[in-house]
Amino acid sequence: MNTLIRNGTVVTARETKAADVRIEDGRIQEVGAGLAERPGESVIDATGMYVMPGGIDAHTHLDMPFGGTMSADDFETGTRAAAFGGTTTIVDFAIQARGTRMREALDAWWKKAEGRATIDYGLHMIVTDLGGAGLEDMDGMVDEGVASFKLFMAYPNVLMVDDATIFKALSQTAKNGALICMHAENGSVIDVLIARALAEGKTAPIYHALTRPALAEAEAVHRAIAMAEIAGVPVYIVHLTSEDALNQVREARDRGVPAFAETCPQYLLLSIDELARPGFEGAKFVFTPPLRPKEHQPKLWEGLKHDHLQVVSTDHCPFCFADQKILGKDDFTKIPNGGPGIENRLQLIYHFGVNAGKLSLNRFVEIVSTAPAQIFGLYPKKGEIAVGSDADLAIWDPNAAYTISARTHHMRVDYSMFEGFEVRGNARTVISRGETIVDGGKFLGKAGRGNYVKRAARGGAWK
Ligand code: URP
Ligand code: ZN
Ligand code: ZN
Repeated sequence: MNTLIRNGTVVTARETKAADVRIEDGRIQEVGAGLAERPGESVIDATGMYVMPGGIDAHTHLDMPFGGTMSADDFETGTRAAAFGGTTTIVDFAIQARGTRMREALDAWWKKAEGRATIDYGLHMIVTDLGGAGLEDMDGMVDEGVASFKLFMAYPNVLMVDDATIFKALSQTAKNGALICMHAENGSVIDVLIARALAEGKTAPIYHALTRPALAEAEAVHRAIAMAEIAGVPVYIVHLTSEDALNQVREARDRGVPAFAETCPQYLLLSIDELARPGFEGAKFVFTPPLRPKEHQPKLWEGLKHDHLQVVSTDHCPFCFADQKILGKDDFTKIPNGGPGIENRLQLIYHFGVNAGKLSLNRFVEIVSTAPAQIFGLYPKKGEIAVGSDADLAIWDPNAAYTISARTHHMRVDYSMFEGFEVRGNARTVISRGETIVDGGKFLGKAGRGNYVKRAARGGAWK
């Protein structure tokens, strides 16, 4: 199906212009003013709308095991919810189980996505073990389009790896061009703080945040960047939450070190106060790293504006309150870590960023789409409106009023972290490889239509 999108305003990371967009065979064929309709083309009228590259969420956890349960969205429900919010590509995380080959994890995650994904997806690999053939395995993953690896400096005995492993992984990327993504928190210090809290009978959700101080994040960010600098390679800090951690990234970037970082809507818009809600309600906001005092929020917005932070992802990792978060009712360490957000990222960043005057429209497109495409080796196939790029587009209604609520969202989870938030600006029509998959609040795509996307090594972080 060939399509002409007419009368809209095309917004990319570089420019804003009145232009039509012609789509042929799933790709952008022409961008220009006053394009003539061709026989057989379907026409979408985008009067009053922004036509922007579809969102790219570089950090999601669908169908992921954690703490004896599974994240509540699978690849079908999670990608469908993403599409409703204007996201057309995700990069999810496969997890290497200790003592196994990375290939097994890749096959397992392909199987989870097969027949379910409704939008295109890539995969990062979480490395838990570099023994045996680990370093060769990393090269093999890059050949399969898994051009980035996440390593944990937290969760001792579960996911955490030591500094030697981190340094070896970083060093290997000098050869294979992958990007190392760091979960940066000092897990050993945090474990001592947790043990102390529990010994004092402090079991409520708020202690999740109080045992993971911002300095434990900043220290790990500093160490991760220092190790990358010694190895002479770029590094990407995932889900950065605090001014302290941001200062480490900014200081490194100011010295010309290729350090990159993302934050997430929850850190920009919610604070540690949520964890102190009465009863067990605070468990809805237990994820890692934790929410911080609200004074950190303006620093993160400034960081986004000035490119000290490059990306907003969601870290979507939903667990239902009623039957999953409840596992930690008597002990905060047993609350599954994670929160839902895959559907609301663009709405929240547009409303609280662009409408509030904190971000330009072009910077908005850059941090939710173009920069993640570049950094993670998807560009210019994704994250761009240019001839030859995939026709992955969000036709954005800047005036659409929308109230976020678990009653109406499409994520398979029984609460929203942003319940009752009123936003202006929402995706009206969402197009994936030329196919309209969401239109006016209706889902028109189908499970399994989403393709695995091989990502290129030596992406934007290496340039
Ligand atoms: O609490 C979180 N963030 N859960 C997902 C796993 C991770 O560390 O990203
Ligand atoms: Zn993490
Ligand atoms: Zn995560």
